[in-house]
Amino acid sequence: MAETNHPFLAACRREQTPYTPVWLMRQAGRYMEDYRKLRAQHDFLELCKRPDLAAEITVTPVQRLGVDAAILFADILLILEPMGVGLEYSKGDGPVIHRPVRSGKDIDALSDFDPAQELSFVFEAVKKIRKTLDDKAPLIGFAGAPFTLASYLIEGCGSRNYVHTKKLFYGAPEAWKRLMDRLARLVAAYLNCQIAAGAHAVQLFDSWAGCLTPGDYEQFAMPYTKAVIDAITPGIPVINFSTGTAGSLKHIRAAGGGVIGLDWRVNLDEGWAAVGNDVAVQGNLDPVALFAAPKEIKTRVADILRRAGGRPGHIFNLGHGVLPETPVDHVIAMVEAVHELSAR
Ligand code: CP3
Repeated sequence: MAETNHPFLAACRREQTPYTPVWLMRQAGRYMEDYRKLRAQHDFLELCKRPDLAAEITVTPVQRLGVDAAILFADILLILEPMGVGLEYSKGDGPVIHRPVRSGKDIDALSDFDPAQELSFVFEAVKKIRKTLDDKAPLIGFAGAPFTLASYLIEGCGSRNYVHTKKLFYGAPEAWKRLMDRLARLVAAYLNCQIAAGAHAVQLFDSWAGCLTPGDYEQFAMPYTKAVIDAITPGIPVINFSTGTAGSLKHIRAAGGGVIGLDWRVNLDEGWAAVGNDVAVQGNLDPVALFAAPKEIKTRVADILRRAGGRPGHIFNLGHGVLPETPVDHVIAMVEAVHELSAR
């Protein structure tokens, strides 16, 4: 199938498709034995920096799961490493930033860099993946949205309350703006390099935007997500993904993106109505539902498809990434259920 006619890309453009395309965030990861085997031999950053390994990890789930798109194997935090803040993927506790930024002075001391140079291993991986996929499935590139990247830079690790992040934008709004302008510029350049190397579509992950009030999202996050999206190579579908933002959907929509990601905390039909039926949507099975029996999974898939109502422009996905203990055969059952129940 010519890649531009592929159901995933057609759905991004809200065209009719023979069935609802499906892929999963974190479809390459620890729930898969193939990944755990490679991971036992290599450090996570090494997997990201070796284009041959990153390509293999990207392509394996496409073959194993029968999904309709590949997502580049990388991480949203890679872009923070060349800033000189000491990124480390420590065993067990998730990634840490050894020198988090907490003030305008810290922000101004961040190293400037050219993503085309410093992140070239990512673009090499994209080229390799395109060769291996041989147009059988489109490739999605991605980056973190400025807000989620800023909160990682400021907190230094995952956070429950984002106190340092919010203190910075409450107390030093000009410094916040300098940081967010810089991140928006870097992220746009980084995504455009992925596109130049062969990514067919890109997704922005604003995984932590749900900690914000709708007003704070509108003021402190949305303009920078919008700046990234406005700078993306024209004609390339952009998926604007966030979690916990059911109360901010009109601002999410205003940030842009032809496809809006919905998590499971909102019913798909209500979320779609809130962002407007003139954009495509992606989602929104609860990742934990994949721990239920396949029969129950199928019932839940059917409910989401019913809410999508057969309208063009629905891409099936989870509301967030696949969890590490998820049974692989349940993931396959989910993908099969989507294809079977949506066939038209
Ligand atoms: O979706 C995919 O299959 C592509 C690869 C991908 C990874 N991270 C690989 C990864 C993608 C799209 C991401 C995005 C990402 N990374 C996000 C946004 C999505 C989300 O989950 O909210 C965030 C917040 C990160 C930052 C990050 N990277 C965290 C918090 C962690 C540790 C916790 C966790 O989920 O593992 C990582 C590590 C990471 N990124 C792993 C993988 C496969 C696990 C690393 C390991 O093997 O130990």
